[in-house]
Amino acid sequence: MNEQSVPDKLYDSSNIAGLYIRASLSWPDHLLNQSIEYEKKMDKFIIDGGRELKGTVKVSGAKNATLPALAAALLACGKTVLTNVPNVMDVRTMRRLLLRLGAKVEFSGGTLEIDVPQKLKCEAEYEIVKQMRASYYVLGPLLARFGKARVSLPGGCAIGARPMDLHLKGMEALGARIDIVHGYVQAQAPKLKGAKFQLAGSHGVSVGATINVMMAAVLAQGRTVIESAACEPEVVSTAEMLNSMGAVITGAGTPVIAIEGVPELHPCQFKMIPDRIEAGSLMAAAAITGGYVTIEDCRPDHLTAVIETLRKAGVKIAQGDEMVTVEARRRLKPMEILVAPYPGFPTDMQPQAMALTTVCSGLSTVTETIFENRFMHVPELQRLGADIKIEGNTAIVKGVPKLTAAPVMGSDLRASAALVIAALAAEGRTEINRIYHLDRGYENWERKLKKLGAKIRRVHIPM
Ligand code: UD1
Repeated sequence: MNEQSVPDKLYDSSNIAGLYIRASLSWPDHLLNQSIEYEKKMDKFIIDGGRELKGTVKVSGAKNATLPALAAALLACGKTVLTNVPNVMDVRTMRRLLLRLGAKVEFSGGTLEIDVPQKLKCEAEYEIVKQMRASYYVLGPLLARFGKARVSLPGGCAIGARPMDLHLKGMEALGARIDIVHGYVQAQAPKLKGAKFQLAGSHGVSVGATINVMMAAVLAQGRTVIESAACEPEVVSTAEMLNSMGAVITGAGTPVIAIEGVPELHPCQFKMIPDRIEAGSLMAAAAITGGYVTIEDCRPDHLTAVIETLRKAGVKIAQGDEMVTVEARRRLKPMEILVAPYPGFPTDMQPQAMALTTVCSGLSTVTETIFENRFMHVPELQRLGADIKIEGNTAIVKGVPKLTAAPVMGSDLRASAALVIAALAAEGRTEINRIYHLDRGYENWERKLKKLGAKIRRVHIPM
């Protein structure tokens, strides 16, 4: 369904959105988006598997770099412009959050213009945060600029408990007072003060906490040093954006980040880095179908662990500055995948890589070390004929010669991508339900895969 088109159900007067349409009232932007996202929840993919992918495809901008970039824009009054922005549901949700805070946000053709006024509302409500955890990124910027913020706790999610304690630990280290009241984090600090602290927890480093605390520290008084910082490219991208707004950050991309506080920041223009997880997912899709695909507009230097793993299994990969070519003509050898923080094998590629191991020869192992519950895709892959056993945090995958089609269901973003990848190789017609999870983070995926020769279509189910 086209995002602009209005589904029939919206004409139903029992639907609040329908009332607006029937009465031809001027349509509040956030309501229109909300209703359309709601309608998309029942969409499904129909995939006829077994076709080699061939051709060239471009990777979109990184969702996980864009979400903090939107929040970072709140640190300066005036118009910040972000380019290479993926039009995915999570970005639209973040845009809605910024609109509610009082910013003006225009989004068209991959460009986001964020006009930030002097004053903002300092609250991220549960209604939005429950849809997207990354809403917590407004905590650091709001606290830094206005001395207060009220942000709903996100709660659990399909892949694990995912607490926010490290975010709060960092804010407290900068001098904020934190209270949890009625499910909300209430943070206050007339003026944050720089400090030195370490940010890892029992699950290791945190991408979100590193970025959130870094965004808070840029306007703090004095010097902040974050030890045990996450090193992911999205941390580096956010630091580069903040520096282009006038912040003084060094060491992003290493475990120690130093931030010299400045009194204020100015708006900037910033281009989003390519989405390394989309690029890796496309590599897995090409490999599982025995295809030959060139993936453009990507950063192979952000994909070292994925490229090494696939090469060891027998995938031929040629890489240039901003492209990779993937060729897999023979059955692949088994893989031994150990998830680890960057530059290790990304947890966000674990389900897609597991999909690939299901048809490798011999026994593969996939060990998840970051999220305790990230094997929700396993029973669905089993429905497609995969032979997988779980022992603790390791999945032992015995490769089968062929997967076979079945109706399956996405449980989260990357699990849904894994099912698409598996379905592309499965014999017969696979129906993947609940692809709204995939829509959260993959831009135009069915269009991209179709262009590579996949037989895939989206079916919109009216609710
Ligand atoms: C980000 C990514 C997500 C990716 C993850 C790990 C975004 C929007 N999401 O999520 O796609 O899978 O990094 O690469 O960029 N933890 C705590 N306390 C905290 C924060 C995290 O214990 O306060 C734990 C988490 O439960 C998890 C581990 O630390 O076990 C890593 O999580 P984290 O890096 O924070 O993930 P996110 O930033 O939420």
